[in-house]
Amino acid sequence: MFCLGPIRTGLGWKPVSHSRNRLSITPALPLPHISRLQSDGLGGEFNALMSQPAIKPTERMEKIVSLCKRRGFIFQSSEIYGGINGFWDYGPLGAELKRNVKELWWKSMTKLRDDVVGLDASIIMHPTIWRASGHVDTFADPMVDCLLTKKRLRADQIDPQSGIAYFYEGARDEASGKELCEPFSVLLAPGKPAESARKVAGQFYTQRGVATPVLIGERTEKLENTTRYNPENGALLTEPRMFNLMFKSHAGPVESEENVVFLRPETAQAIFVQFKNVLETSRQKVPFGIAQIGKAFRNEINPRNYTFRSREFEQMELEFFIKPDEVVEKQCGAVAALAESGEPTDPQPNWGWEVWHKYWVEQRMSWYESIGLSRDTLEQYWQKQDELAHYARATVDILYKFPFGTQELEGIAARGNFDLSQHQKFSGKSMEYFDQEASAKYIPHVIEPSAGVDRLLLALICNAYAEEEVTDEKGNTEIRTVMRFHPRVAPIKVGIFPLLRNKPVLVEKALAVRDMLRPFMNVFYDDAGAIGRRYRRQDEAGTPFGVTIDFDTIGENGPELEGTVTLRHRDSMKQERVKISELLGILLAQVQ
Ligand code: GAP
Repeated sequence: MFCLGPIRTGLGWKPVSHSRNRLSITPALPLPHISRLQSDGLGGEFNALMSQPAIKPTERMEKIVSLCKRRGFIFQSSEIYGGINGFWDYGPLGAELKRNVKELWWKSMTKLRDDVVGLDASIIMHPTIWRASGHVDTFADPMVDCLLTKKRLRADQIDPQSGIAYFYEGARDEASGKELCEPFSVLLAPGKPAESARKVAGQFYTQRGVATPVLIGERTEKLENTTRYNPENGALLTEPRMFNLMFKSHAGPVESEENVVFLRPETAQAIFVQFKNVLETSRQKVPFGIAQIGKAFRNEINPRNYTFRSREFEQMELEFFIKPDEVVEKQCGAVAALAESGEPTDPQPNWGWEVWHKYWVEQRMSWYESIGLSRDTLEQYWQKQDELAHYARATVDILYKFPFGTQELEGIAARGNFDLSQHQKFSGKSMEYFDQEASAKYIPHVIEPSAGVDRLLLALICNAYAEEEVTDEKGNTEIRTVMRFHPRVAPIKVGIFPLLRNKPVLVEKALAVRDMLRPFMNVFYDDAGAIGRRYRRQDEAGTPFGVTIDFDTIGENGPELEGTVTLRHRDSMKQERVKISELLGILLAQVQ
């Protein structure tokens, strides 16, 4: 189920069109071409013909969740105690994948740019920050409870239903004659027998102490598109109440109102409150950005879709500070119009917020492409004027086509100078910047690309998952499960396999190759079982390359192949012979 009503953004509420939050289940990712593959001649590898059987989206998701647990990508938090809803742990492969993604984001944002610097701020900050940002007053979801089961639901995520509502004024106990006057109602889908409503109502009154309820004052009414009933059992819901999503705690030993602190619901605010310190110490000039990666916490009412909506997650946020348009105009004579600039790639002094915003959307799309999410797996949703938060001038959501629907990965917002102005107001400290080039003093405006690490990991995992039917030369078929991670994000870059574990000369050589590659990339040494099985294990882990040390390597089949290894490519399963001396260069070109 996906929300069809208003949706929450970083702050506050806005209506949203159905196109963005639609219930659509996207088809499984496009099938790769059926391809004929070269024989590798190493026992057990199926290689003649491969195709990807179609998998239903729900089945696909179940398989992905199962693989993530089985192979150590994602575990339920606190599993041995029954788990805790909305919290997840990353296992050995997941932890590597996550580190790679964060490192690549950090590299593209800070190391490869002159105009962005980093920050690593505390999670708990002064509580006034959350008043200034508006989170204390408006960071809330409407919540309803089922009157029968007490299950808590997000009001805006309930699908409208139509049917016959059965209303009751109360119930009388058959044995004692005692009456309970508490109204209740049940919604039945058209055509369902009245008895079903009476059964649910009976349970409701029994829970309230009427042992053998006789229902009082039954009447019916036809309702269209109501969201007042629990879709699971038809029972009436409570009125919606706003529920603040910030986790609260107390700093210090006294649990009083004065000591209340919040776990940050976004990393962005720390960047705003440290704006002046970073500016002064980094010698940056506007336009420039501050990037941060870190944990954020939201007490989501309904965590769901695996890790997609969690209560603890990580964000990668950039606040890119720019000159207000009137300053650009004064300095350059005019502000560059979007159409003139085409696809903006090279920052120019005459860029106003609109071009900068478009620039960052393009930068982010290219980055996703560079880590393996091709443009056809993504969508851009440009929020309409009436959907924008009151301070935002434009917001674009980058959506990924998950098996459970097309959903947000990242939001890129042009936030004006709202945040810095609010902190100036609440702290009494100036957030103004003196621009020497423009001889002007102003509070900078900001463009904010804000991405979720965990959602991106889930997108990468969903994107990578593939099942292929592979048929060998003898006509035997089996299903190969392969995680087609881009080599840059793959948790393990290369598997090292001595052909036989009981041949010390092969083992020694394989260990030497491992030790040569290890300082540069994550390698996995495996000498257990048939070579074909070892390949399959690495296919499931998403390891893009396999290196086999065999008898050719040690020169047993002639001097011309001595010092070479077999390099196997995960996706094509093709193998090539490469010199050990060239291996590092070949691999680095792919994984960096
Ligand atoms: N500073 C702006 C901000 O926080 P947001 O749209 O609320 O904006 C940004 O969050 C990104 O953080 C989202 O696009 C999403 O990737 C991620 N995110 C937000 N809530 C999340 C949750 N409950 N679980 C996982 N990721 C979440």
